[in-house]
Amino acid sequence: MVQKKPKLNDFFEYTEEDLQAGRSALMRGWSSGVEPVFKIFVTAQGASLWDAEGNEFIDCTAQAWSNNIGANDPRVIEVAVAQTQDLTHLRSNYDSIPLLLMAKELAASAPGRLKRVSFCLHGSMAIESALKLAVKNRPNSGPLLTLYDGYHGRSVATMAMSWPHVNNDFNGLMPRVVRIPQPYHYRHALPGETPEQMARRCADMLRDTIRYGVNGKPAAFFMEPVQGNGAQLDFPREYYHYVRQVCDEEGVLLVWDEVQTGMGRCGTMWAAEYYGVEPDIIAFGKGVGGGFPLAGIIAREDLIGFEAGDDALTFGQFPVALAAGLMALRVMKEDNLLENCVRVGEYATRGLWKLAEKHPLIGDVRGPGLNIGIELVRDRQTKEPAAHEAMEVYRLGLENGVIFGTSRYGGIGNVVKIKPPLCITIDQMDRVLNVFDQILTEIEEKR
Ligand SMILES: Cc1ncc(COP(=O)(O)O)c(C=O)c1O
Repeated sequence: MVQKKPKLNDFFEYTEEDLQAGRSALMRGWSSGVEPVFKIFVTAQGASLWDAEGNEFIDCTAQAWSNNIGANDPRVIEVAVAQTQDLTHLRSNYDSIPLLLMAKELAASAPGRLKRVSFCLHGSMAIESALKLAVKNRPNSGPLLTLYDGYHGRSVATMAMSWPHVNNDFNGLMPRVVRIPQPYHYRHALPGETPEQMARRCADMLRDTIRYGVNGKPAAFFMEPVQGNGAQLDFPREYYHYVRQVCDEEGVLLVWDEVQTGMGRCGTMWAAEYYGVEPDIIAFGKGVGGGFPLAGIIAREDLIGFEAGDDALTFGQFPVALAAGLMALRVMKEDNLLENCVRVGEYATRGLWKLAEKHPLIGDVRGPGLNIGIELVRDRQTKEPAAHEAMEVYRLGLENGVIFGTSRYGGIGNVVKIKPPLCITIDQMDRVLNVFDQILTEIEEKR
Protein backbone atom coordinates (compact mmCIF):
# COMPACT_ATOMS: atom_id res chain seq x y z
CA MET A 1 0.00 0.00 0.00
CA VAL A 2 1.48 3.36 -1.05
CA GLN A 3 0.69 6.40 1.04
CA LYS A 4 -0.43 9.12 -1.40
CA LYS A 5 0.57 12.69 -0.63
CA PRO A 6 -1.74 15.22 -2.31
CA LYS A 7 0.14 17.73 -4.52
CA LEU A 8 -1.82 20.51 -2.79
CA ASN A 9 0.39 19.90 0.22
CA ASP A 10 3.26 21.52 -1.70
CA PHE A 11 1.32 24.78 -1.62
CA PHE A 12 -0.83 24.75 1.50
CA GLU A 13 -0.17 23.55 5.01
CA TYR A 14 -3.15 22.27 6.97
CA THR A 15 -3.98 20.21 10.01
CA GLU A 16 -6.72 17.70 10.73
CA GLU A 17 -8.42 20.52 12.70
CA ASP A 18 -8.49 22.67 9.57
CA LEU A 19 -10.22 19.89 7.68
CA GLN A 20 -12.69 19.40 10.53
CA ALA A 21 -13.49 23.12 10.51
CA GLY A 22 -14.16 22.84 6.78
CA ARG A 23 -16.50 19.90 7.39
CA SER A 24 -18.45 21.93 9.94
CA ALA A 25 -18.70 24.91 7.59
CA LEU A 26 -19.98 22.93 4.62
CA MET A 27 -23.68 22.76 3.81
CA ARG A 28 -23.86 19.45 2.04
CA GLY A 29 -26.85 20.21 -0.15
CA TRP A 30 -25.31 18.21 -2.93
CA SER A 31 -24.44 14.87 -1.43
CA SER A 32 -26.96 12.33 -0.38
CA GLY A 33 -27.81 11.77 3.25
CA VAL A 34 -28.37 8.12 2.35
CA GLU A 35 -24.68 7.52 1.77
CA PRO A 36 -23.17 8.85 4.99
CA VAL A 37 -19.56 7.98 4.21
CA PHE A 38 -17.65 11.23 3.73
CA LYS A 39 -14.36 9.86 2.55
CA ILE A 40 -11.41 11.84 1.30
CA PHE A 41 -9.90 10.64 -1.95
CA VAL A 42 -6.63 12.12 -3.06
CA THR A 43 -5.77 10.75 -6.49
CA ALA A 44 -7.44 9.03 -9.42
CA GLN A 45 -6.37 7.32 -12.61
CA GLY A 46 -8.48 5.53 -15.21
CA ALA A 47 -11.14 3.50 -13.42
CA SER A 48 -9.46 3.75 -9.99
CA LEU A 49 -9.40 6.15 -7.06
CA TRP A 50 -7.03 6.15 -4.10
CA ASP A 51 -7.65 7.41 -0.59
CA ALA A 52 -5.04 9.11 1.59
CA GLU A 53 -3.93 5.76 3.04
CA GLY A 54 -3.17 4.46 -0.44
CA ASN A 55 -6.18 2.12 -0.69
CA GLU A 56 -7.36 1.60 -4.26
CA PHE A 57 -11.05 1.59 -5.22
CA ILE A 58 -12.57 0.66 -8.56
CA ASP A 59 -15.04 3.41 -9.27
CA CYS A 60 -18.32 2.08 -10.68
CA THR A 61 -19.79 5.58 -10.43
CA ALA A 62 -17.18 7.33 -12.62
CA GLN A 63 -17.74 10.10 -10.03
CA ALA A 64 -21.35 10.95 -10.77
CA TRP A 65 -20.98 9.23 -14.17
CA SER A 66 -18.57 11.91 -15.38
CA ASN A 67 -15.15 10.34 -15.81
CA ASN A 68 -16.19 8.51 -18.97
CA ILE A 69 -12.75 8.43 -20.59
CA GLY A 70 -11.16 7.62 -17.22
CA ALA A 71 -10.03 9.88 -14.41
CA ASN A 72 -7.04 12.17 -14.83
CA ASP A 73 -6.10 11.09 -18.31
CA PRO A 74 -2.56 12.48 -18.78
CA ARG A 75 -3.38 13.73 -22.30
CA VAL A 76 -6.34 15.71 -20.97
CA ILE A 77 -4.34 17.07 -18.07
CA GLU A 78 -1.54 18.15 -20.39
CA VAL A 79 -3.82 20.14 -22.68
CA ALA A 80 -5.74 21.60 -19.72
CA VAL A 81 -2.49 22.80 -18.17
CA ALA A 82 -1.40 24.28 -21.52
CA GLN A 83 -4.73 26.06 -21.97
CA THR A 84 -4.59 27.24 -18.33
CA GLN A 85 -1.24 28.82 -18.98
CA ASP A 86 -2.51 30.55 -22.13
CA LEU A 87 -5.99 31.67 -21.09
CA THR A 88 -8.31 30.54 -18.32
CA HIS A 89 -11.21 32.92 -18.77
CA LEU A 90 -12.72 34.98 -21.52
CA ARG A 91 -15.81 37.12 -21.57
CA SER A 92 -18.53 35.58 -23.74
CA ASN A 93 -18.34 38.52 -26.16
CA TYR A 94 -15.15 36.93 -27.52
CA ASP A 95 -14.33 33.53 -28.98
CA SER A 96 -11.56 31.22 -27.87
CA ILE A 97 -10.02 28.60 -30.16
CA PRO A 98 -11.18 25.63 -28.04
CA LEU A 99 -14.71 27.08 -28.08
CA LEU A 100 -14.86 27.02 -31.86
CA LEU A 101 -13.12 23.66 -32.25
CA MET A 102 -15.35 21.98 -29.67
CA ALA A 103 -18.51 23.39 -31.26
CA LYS A 104 -17.36 21.98 -34.61
CA GLU A 105 -16.55 18.55 -33.13
CA LEU A 106 -19.80 18.21 -31.23
CA ALA A 107 -21.90 19.30 -34.19
CA ALA A 108 -20.10 16.67 -36.29
CA SER A 109 -20.65 13.99 -33.65
CA ALA A 110 -24.43 14.34 -33.45
CA PRO A 111 -26.88 12.68 -35.84
CA GLY A 112 -28.86 14.29 -38.66
CA ARG A 113 -29.93 17.90 -38.30
CA LEU A 114 -28.46 18.36 -34.80
CA LYS A 115 -25.85 20.90 -35.80
CA ARG A 116 -26.02 23.93 -33.50
CA VAL A 117 -24.20 23.93 -30.20
CA SER A 118 -24.23 26.08 -27.10
CA PHE A 119 -22.20 25.66 -23.93
CA CYS A 120 -22.47 26.05 -20.19
CA LEU A 121 -20.89 24.25 -17.23
CA HIS A 122 -23.62 22.11 -15.66
CA GLY A 123 -26.16 19.62 -16.88
CA SER A 124 -28.91 21.51 -15.04
CA MET A 125 -28.05 24.67 -16.95
CA ALA A 126 -27.93 22.70 -20.20
CA ILE A 127 -31.50 21.56 -19.54
CA GLU A 128 -32.46 25.16 -18.84
CA SER A 129 -30.88 26.15 -22.16
CA ALA A 130 -32.95 23.45 -23.87
CA LEU A 131 -36.03 24.69 -22.06
CA LYS A 132 -35.41 28.27 -23.19
CA LEU A 133 -34.74 27.23 -26.77
CA ALA A 134 -37.89 25.09 -26.82
CA VAL A 135 -40.04 27.95 -25.53
CA LYS A 136 -38.40 30.35 -28.00
CA ASN A 137 -39.47 28.02 -30.78
CA ARG A 138 -42.92 27.35 -29.34
CA PRO A 139 -43.98 30.66 -27.76
CA ASN A 140 -47.09 30.85 -25.56
CA SER A 141 -46.88 27.14 -24.90
CA GLY A 142 -48.47 25.10 -22.11
CA PRO A 143 -46.77 23.04 -19.38
CA LEU A 144 -43.56 21.15 -20.08
CA LEU A 145 -43.77 17.37 -20.23
CA THR A 146 -41.37 15.01 -18.48
CA LEU A 147 -41.38 11.37 -17.39
CA TYR A 148 -42.17 9.79 -14.04
CA ASP A 149 -38.90 9.28 -12.15
CA GLY A 150 -36.98 11.49 -14.59
CA TYR A 151 -34.06 13.52 -13.31
CA HIS A 152 -32.92 16.73 -14.95
CA GLY A 153 -30.90 18.54 -12.31
CA ARG A 154 -31.00 20.74 -9.29
CA SER A 155 -31.56 24.28 -10.55
CA VAL A 156 -34.93 25.67 -9.55
CA ALA A 157 -36.50 24.85 -12.91
CA THR A 158 -34.94 21.41 -13.32
CA MET A 159 -35.96 20.33 -9.82
CA ALA A 160 -39.55 20.81 -10.93
CA MET A 161 -38.90 18.75 -14.02
CA SER A 162 -37.43 15.87 -12.03
CA TRP A 163 -39.19 13.32 -9.83
CA PRO A 164 -40.97 15.06 -6.98
CA HIS A 165 -38.15 15.83 -4.63
CA VAL A 166 -38.98 15.13 -1.00
CA ASN A 167 -37.83 18.51 0.23
CA ASN A 168 -38.38 20.71 -2.76
CA ASP A 169 -39.21 24.02 -1.07
CA PHE A 170 -39.03 25.84 -4.37
CA ASN A 171 -42.07 24.36 -6.11
CA GLY A 172 -44.02 27.59 -6.02
CA LEU A 173 -41.42 29.23 -8.25
CA MET A 174 -41.40 26.54 -10.86
CA PRO A 175 -42.37 26.29 -14.50
CA ARG A 176 -45.49 24.23 -15.05
CA VAL A 177 -44.65 20.59 -15.55
CA VAL A 178 -46.77 17.51 -16.21
CA ARG A 179 -45.21 14.05 -15.78
CA ILE A 180 -46.13 11.07 -17.96
CA PRO A 181 -45.70 7.42 -16.89
CA GLN A 182 -42.67 5.74 -18.40
CA PRO A 183 -42.58 2.13 -19.64
CA TYR A 184 -41.00 0.52 -16.57
CA HIS A 185 -41.77 -2.98 -17.70
CA TYR A 186 -40.17 -4.87 -14.83
CA ARG A 187 -42.44 -3.16 -12.30
CA HIS A 188 -45.44 -1.61 -13.94
CA ALA A 189 -46.50 -3.80 -16.87
CA LEU A 190 -50.17 -4.83 -16.94
CA PRO A 191 -50.77 -8.59 -16.59
CA GLY A 192 -49.53 -10.29 -19.76
CA GLU A 193 -48.42 -7.00 -21.35
CA THR A 194 -45.32 -7.30 -23.56
CA PRO A 195 -42.62 -4.61 -23.50
CA GLU A 196 -43.73 -3.52 -26.97
CA GLN A 197 -47.37 -3.21 -25.86
CA MET A 198 -46.33 -1.24 -22.82
CA ALA A 199 -44.23 1.06 -25.01
CA ARG A 200 -47.31 1.70 -27.17
CA ARG A 201 -49.54 2.31 -24.13
CA CYS A 202 -47.09 4.82 -22.61
CA ALA A 203 -46.60 6.63 -25.92
CA ASP A 204 -50.41 6.81 -26.26
CA MET A 205 -50.55 8.38 -22.79
CA LEU A 206 -48.06 10.97 -23.99
CA ARG A 207 -50.28 11.75 -26.98
CA ASP A 208 -53.46 11.88 -24.86
CA THR A 209 -51.80 14.20 -22.36
CA ILE A 210 -50.71 16.56 -25.11
CA ARG A 211 -54.22 16.55 -26.60
CA TYR A 212 -56.46 16.39 -23.53
CA GLY A 213 -54.41 16.66 -20.35
CA VAL A 214 -52.99 20.17 -20.42
CA ASN A 215 -54.10 23.72 -21.07
CA GLY A 216 -51.96 24.89 -23.98
CA LYS A 217 -49.75 22.76 -26.17
CA PRO A 218 -46.45 21.86 -24.43
CA ALA A 219 -43.30 23.31 -26.03
CA ALA A 220 -41.34 20.15 -25.39
CA PHE A 221 -41.20 16.67 -23.96
CA PHE A 222 -38.01 16.09 -21.95
CA MET A 223 -36.77 12.54 -21.37
CA GLU A 224 -33.60 10.74 -20.45
CA PRO A 225 -33.09 7.89 -22.94
CA VAL A 226 -31.98 5.79 -19.97
CA GLN A 227 -33.24 7.09 -16.64
CA GLY A 228 -30.17 7.24 -14.43
CA ASN A 229 -31.38 8.57 -11.12
CA GLY A 230 -34.73 6.87 -11.68
CA ALA A 231 -33.78 3.24 -11.26
CA GLN A 232 -31.21 3.03 -14.05
CA LEU A 233 -33.98 2.21 -16.45
CA ASP A 234 -33.86 1.73 -20.19
CA PHE A 235 -37.10 1.39 -22.13
CA PRO A 236 -38.36 -1.07 -24.73
CA ARG A 237 -36.70 -0.09 -28.02
CA GLU A 238 -40.00 0.67 -29.70
CA TYR A 239 -40.80 3.35 -27.12
CA TYR A 240 -38.14 5.71 -28.45
CA HIS A 241 -39.58 5.52 -31.95
CA TYR A 242 -43.21 5.85 -30.82
CA VAL A 243 -42.31 8.95 -28.82
CA ARG A 244 -40.60 10.51 -31.82
CA GLN A 245 -43.72 9.82 -33.87
CA VAL A 246 -46.07 11.34 -31.28
CA CYS A 247 -43.94 14.47 -30.92
CA ASP A 248 -43.80 14.89 -34.70
CA GLU A 249 -47.54 14.44 -35.11
CA GLU A 250 -48.37 16.80 -32.26
CA GLY A 251 -45.74 19.46 -33.04
CA VAL A 252 -44.02 19.10 -29.66
CA LEU A 253 -40.22 19.30 -29.51
CA LEU A 254 -38.41 16.22 -28.27
CA VAL A 255 -35.50 16.92 -25.92
CA TRP A 256 -33.23 14.07 -24.93
CA ASP A 257 -31.35 14.66 -21.72
CA GLU A 258 -28.11 12.89 -22.60
CA VAL A 259 -26.21 14.33 -19.67
CA GLN A 260 -25.60 10.75 -18.52
CA THR A 261 -26.12 8.69 -21.67
CA GLY A 262 -23.91 10.86 -23.90
CA MET A 263 -20.17 10.66 -24.39
CA GLY A 264 -20.15 6.97 -25.06
CA ARG A 265 -21.90 5.47 -22.07
CA CYS A 266 -24.23 3.30 -24.18
CA GLY A 267 -21.40 2.22 -26.49
CA THR A 268 -22.18 4.94 -29.04
CA MET A 269 -21.29 8.62 -28.74
CA TRP A 270 -24.97 9.48 -28.12
CA ALA A 271 -27.88 7.29 -27.07
CA ALA A 272 -29.68 8.87 -30.05
CA GLU A 273 -27.38 6.80 -32.27
CA TYR A 274 -27.84 3.69 -30.19
CA TYR A 275 -31.64 3.86 -30.44
CA GLY A 276 -31.70 5.23 -33.98
CA VAL A 277 -33.81 8.29 -33.09
CA GLU A 278 -33.09 11.93 -33.82
CA PRO A 279 -34.33 14.19 -31.04
CA ASP A 280 -34.78 17.93 -31.69
CA ILE A 281 -32.37 18.91 -28.92
CA ILE A 282 -29.75 16.91 -27.05
CA ALA A 283 -28.54 18.18 -23.67
CA PHE A 284 -25.05 17.04 -22.70
CA GLY A 285 -22.78 17.36 -19.68
CA LYS A 286 -20.82 15.16 -17.28
CA GLY A 287 -18.36 13.06 -19.36
CA VAL A 288 -18.02 15.56 -22.21
CA GLY A 289 -15.43 17.69 -20.38
CA GLY A 290 -13.09 14.75 -19.74
CA GLY A 291 -13.30 15.44 -15.98
CA PHE A 292 -13.75 19.22 -16.27
CA PRO A 293 -17.09 21.02 -15.99
CA LEU A 294 -18.62 21.28 -19.44
CA ALA A 295 -22.22 20.99 -20.59
CA GLY A 296 -24.56 22.39 -23.20
CA ILE A 297 -27.00 21.55 -25.95
CA ILE A 298 -26.93 20.45 -29.56
CA ALA A 299 -30.02 21.62 -31.38
CA ARG A 300 -31.62 21.11 -34.76
CA GLU A 301 -30.14 23.58 -37.22
CA ASP A 302 -33.54 24.70 -38.46
CA LEU A 303 -34.79 25.74 -35.02
CA ILE A 304 -34.73 29.41 -34.10
CA GLY A 305 -31.43 29.84 -32.25
CA PHE A 306 -30.47 31.94 -29.26
CA GLU A 307 -30.07 35.66 -29.68
CA ALA A 308 -27.56 37.80 -27.79
CA GLY A 309 -28.29 37.72 -24.08
CA ASP A 310 -30.67 34.74 -24.18
CA ASP A 311 -28.20 32.37 -22.57
CA ALA A 312 -25.28 34.48 -21.30
CA LEU A 313 -23.35 32.97 -18.39
CA THR A 314 -20.09 34.48 -17.14
CA PHE A 315 -18.14 31.23 -17.12
CA GLY A 316 -20.30 29.42 -19.66
CA GLN A 317 -17.54 29.05 -22.26
CA PHE A 318 -14.70 27.93 -19.99
CA PRO A 319 -11.64 27.61 -22.28
CA VAL A 320 -9.87 25.08 -20.05
CA ALA A 321 -12.85 22.71 -19.96
CA LEU A 322 -13.37 23.13 -23.70
CA ALA A 323 -9.73 22.24 -24.39
CA ALA A 324 -10.03 19.26 -22.04
CA GLY A 325 -13.23 18.20 -23.79
CA LEU A 326 -11.55 18.36 -27.19
CA MET A 327 -8.82 16.05 -25.95
CA ALA A 328 -11.39 13.76 -24.31
CA LEU A 329 -13.03 13.26 -27.72
CA ARG A 330 -9.65 12.40 -29.20
CA VAL A 331 -8.90 9.96 -26.37
CA MET A 332 -12.26 8.22 -26.97
CA LYS A 333 -11.18 7.54 -30.55
CA GLU A 334 -7.49 6.78 -29.90
CA ASP A 335 -8.26 4.30 -27.15
CA ASN A 336 -11.31 2.75 -28.86
CA LEU A 337 -13.36 3.42 -25.77
CA LEU A 338 -16.71 2.86 -27.49
CA GLU A 339 -15.64 -0.66 -28.45
CA ASN A 340 -14.32 -1.24 -24.95
CA CYS A 341 -17.60 0.00 -23.50
CA VAL A 342 -19.58 -2.51 -25.57
CA ARG A 343 -17.16 -5.37 -24.88
CA VAL A 344 -16.80 -4.91 -21.12
CA GLY A 345 -20.47 -3.91 -20.79
CA GLU A 346 -21.63 -7.14 -22.44
CA TYR A 347 -19.15 -9.13 -20.37
CA ALA A 348 -20.44 -7.54 -17.16
CA THR A 349 -24.10 -8.02 -18.09
CA ARG A 350 -23.51 -11.72 -18.89
CA GLY A 351 -21.63 -12.10 -15.61
CA LEU A 352 -24.46 -10.44 -13.67
CA TRP A 353 -27.15 -12.70 -15.18
CA LYS A 354 -24.94 -15.65 -14.22
CA LEU A 355 -24.80 -14.29 -10.66
CA ALA A 356 -28.60 -13.98 -10.75
CA GLU A 357 -28.74 -17.80 -10.99
CA LYS A 358 -27.32 -18.09 -7.48
CA HIS A 359 -28.47 -14.82 -5.87
CA PRO A 360 -32.25 -14.48 -5.50
CA LEU A 361 -31.70 -10.84 -4.48
CA ILE A 362 -31.07 -9.98 -8.14
CA GLY A 363 -34.44 -9.21 -9.70
CA ASP A 364 -33.40 -7.55 -12.96
CA VAL A 365 -30.24 -6.56 -14.84
CA ARG A 366 -30.57 -3.85 -17.48
CA GLY A 367 -29.03 -1.12 -19.56
CA PRO A 368 -26.88 -0.90 -22.66
CA GLY A 369 -23.10 -0.50 -22.63
CA LEU A 370 -21.58 0.45 -19.28
CA ASN A 371 -24.89 1.87 -18.14
CA ILE A 372 -25.88 -1.07 -15.99
CA GLY A 373 -28.56 -1.24 -13.29
CA ILE A 374 -29.24 -4.22 -11.05
CA GLU A 375 -32.59 -4.11 -9.32
CA LEU A 376 -32.50 -5.90 -5.96
CA VAL A 377 -35.66 -7.50 -4.59
CA ARG A 378 -36.44 -9.41 -1.39
CA ASP A 379 -38.77 -11.71 -3.26
CA ARG A 380 -38.81 -12.33 -6.99
CA GLN A 381 -42.57 -12.94 -7.00
CA THR A 382 -43.68 -9.85 -5.08
CA LYS A 383 -40.67 -7.77 -6.24
CA GLU A 384 -40.49 -6.19 -2.80
CA PRO A 385 -37.70 -3.60 -3.18
CA ALA A 386 -34.48 -4.50 -1.32
CA ALA A 387 -33.45 -0.90 -0.58
CA HIS A 388 -31.58 -1.59 2.64
CA GLU A 389 -29.67 -4.36 0.87
CA ALA A 390 -28.69 -1.97 -1.95
CA MET A 391 -27.22 0.37 0.64
CA GLU A 392 -25.39 -2.57 2.17
CA VAL A 393 -23.88 -3.31 -1.25
CA TYR A 394 -22.65 0.27 -1.34
CA ARG A 395 -21.24 0.13 2.20
CA LEU A 396 -19.61 -3.28 1.90
CA GLY A 397 -18.31 -2.36 -1.56
CA LEU A 398 -16.34 0.50 -0.01
CA GLU A 399 -14.89 -1.92 2.53
CA ASN A 400 -13.83 -4.17 -0.34
CA GLY A 401 -12.33 -1.66 -2.75
CA VAL A 402 -15.30 -1.09 -5.07
CA ILE A 403 -17.49 2.01 -5.23
CA PHE A 404 -20.92 0.92 -6.39
CA GLY A 405 -23.58 3.40 -7.45
CA THR A 406 -27.10 3.32 -6.03
CA SER A 407 -30.38 4.79 -7.14
CA ARG A 408 -32.64 6.60 -4.73
CA TYR A 409 -35.53 7.68 -6.88
CA GLY A 410 -38.98 7.93 -5.32
CA GLY A 411 -37.65 6.54 -2.06
CA ILE A 412 -37.34 3.01 -3.45
CA GLY A 413 -33.56 3.01 -3.78
CA ASN A 414 -33.13 -0.67 -4.54
CA VAL A 415 -30.99 -0.39 -7.67
CA VAL A 416 -27.23 -0.90 -7.70
CA LYS A 417 -25.41 0.73 -10.60
CA ILE A 418 -22.26 -0.29 -12.41
CA LYS A 419 -21.27 2.67 -14.60
CA PRO A 420 -17.48 2.90 -14.43
CA PRO A 421 -15.17 4.85 -16.74
CA LEU A 422 -15.33 3.36 -20.23
CA CYS A 423 -11.64 2.42 -20.05
CA ILE A 424 -12.29 -0.22 -17.37
CA THR A 425 -10.54 -3.50 -18.18
CA ILE A 426 -11.96 -7.02 -18.07
CA ASP A 427 -9.67 -7.75 -15.08
CA GLN A 428 -11.05 -4.77 -13.18
CA MET A 429 -14.60 -5.79 -14.07
CA ASP A 430 -13.85 -9.30 -12.80
CA ARG A 431 -12.86 -7.75 -9.49
CA VAL A 432 -16.12 -5.78 -9.39
CA LEU A 433 -18.19 -8.91 -10.14
CA ASN A 434 -16.30 -10.98 -7.55
CA VAL A 435 -16.82 -8.35 -4.87
CA PHE A 436 -20.52 -8.07 -5.80
CA ASP A 437 -20.87 -11.87 -5.61
CA GLN A 438 -19.17 -11.97 -2.22
CA ILE A 439 -21.28 -9.11 -0.84
CA LEU A 440 -24.58 -10.63 -2.01
CA THR A 441 -23.58 -13.94 -0.40
CA GLU A 442 -22.86 -12.13 2.86
CA ILE A 443 -26.18 -10.22 2.77
CA GLU A 444 -28.21 -13.32 1.83
CA GLU A 445 -26.61 -15.40 4.58
CA LYS A 446 -27.66 -12.83 7.19
CA ARG A 447 -31.35 -13.06 6.18
C1 LIG B 1 -29.79 13.03 -16.63
C2 LIG B 1 -29.25 14.22 -15.91
N1 LIG B 1 -29.60 15.44 -16.29
C3 LIG B 1 -29.13 16.54 -15.69
C4 LIG B 1 -28.28 16.44 -14.62
C5 LIG B 1 -27.77 17.68 -13.94
O1 LIG B 1 -26.43 17.85 -14.19
P1 LIG B 1 -25.55 18.77 -13.21
O2 LIG B 1 -25.50 18.06 -11.90
O3 LIG B 1 -24.23 18.85 -13.91
O4 LIG B 1 -26.22 20.09 -13.13
C6 LIG B 1 -27.88 15.19 -14.17
C7 LIG B 1 -26.99 15.05 -13.01
O5 LIG B 1 -26.91 14.04 -12.36
C8 LIG B 1 -28.38 14.04 -14.82
O6 LIG B 1 -28.06 12.82 -14.44
